[in-house]
Amino acid sequence: MHELTEQQIKTFLSVFPEAKRDEPLSAHTYLKIGGPAQLYFDAKTADDLIGAIETAKAQNLPWYILGGGSNVLVSDDGYKGLAIRFSEQIFTVRERTVVSSAGALMVLVAKAAADAGLTGFEWGTTVPGTVGGAIYGNAGCFGGEMKDLVVTVDVYDPATSKRRALPKAECKFGYRDSFFKHKNLVILKTLLSLAPGDKDAIKTRVEELQAKRKASQPQGEFSAGCMFKNFEFKDEAELEILKRQGDEIPEDMLKRKTISAGWLIDKLGLKGMNVGAAKVSDTHANFLVNTGGARAQDVLQLTSFIKMKVRDELGVMLEDEVQLVGF
Ligand code: EPU
Repeated sequence: MHELTEQQIKTFLSVFPEAKRDEPLSAHTYLKIGGPAQLYFDAKTADDLIGAIETAKAQNLPWYILGGGSNVLVSDDGYKGLAIRFSEQIFTVRERTVVSSAGALMVLVAKAAADAGLTGFEWGTTVPGTVGGAIYGNAGCFGGEMKDLVVTVDVYDPATSKRRALPKAECKFGYRDSFFKHKNLVILKTLLSLAPGDKDAIKTRVEELQAKRKASQPQGEFSAGCMFKNFEFKDEAELEILKRQGDEIPEDMLKRKTISAGWLIDKLGLKGMNVGAAKVSDTHANFLVNTGGARAQDVLQLTSFIKMKVRDELGVMLEDEVQLVGF
């Protein structure tokens, strides 16, 4: 990747003087890892977001939307371009619907829906990051996924400079996947549909799920959530090597045709393993934590080792769930 020229940086700063130079991205990621972005801009409104992208386009600046920074691993060399955070916190709950800016925090939007007596988004109160990021990766947990709620997603298309509303069918949601992972569109806003429910039951469910997450996933440690996607198989023949290992594969995983990456990594006894300050969480083996001062290189070495072990010993190819930036 080429460095931005002084001229490119100055031109951008003349339009958006509040943008920062050489901003350490470690300050903007949950893993607390990442070198500097040559330019960093916090877009507080959709107009600012679009304006920043148009300005970048006019000068041929590479740009990247960081989202909440919860599901990314940024290179130690940082990002040679414009890193944008979209931080607009606008959301409204009306009747059975929620309209939310992509920049709004998942926990806040899901909590507002729950407080208004809407059910179906209780799981969202436990998810870090932004609504836009959650749509991009079709985030989910405890049986819920963004795709269950989305009616439309408003996007801005940098290729045409036009805004449009995509109906759910065009979002091509799959397991931790969406159209947006494959097409360069900027998620601005979404309309979600929920169902009315009993306020007390919703409150109990929220507390239950928060307790579940606390018990099964690391808390108060720097991580990017699950590092790898769970392994989806079509046919049990794909599990031949795994089955030879002796231990029974849990019935629910066979039924769902999905083997949890955390279970596979744990099975190999890798909890607690480290490269530098990057460590496999002691609580959940699909979480890598930064115990202090870890580098992206440490994380990559650890993930490569895990992938190799899981492939060689259990016959499963793990895929990254976390997005890599600046590599
Ligand atoms: N397990 C182990 N050891 C571990 C981790 C898990 O044996 O270290 C076992 C558990 O005991 C359980 C099974 O594996 O029997 C499944 O574990 P869990 O319920 O924690 O679910 P998961 O499949 O590991 C998925 C999502 C999480 C989501 C949870 C809860 C993926 C990659 N992970 O994890 O999502 O929070 O379900 O619904 O799809 C994320 O995507 O970043 C994420 C954290």
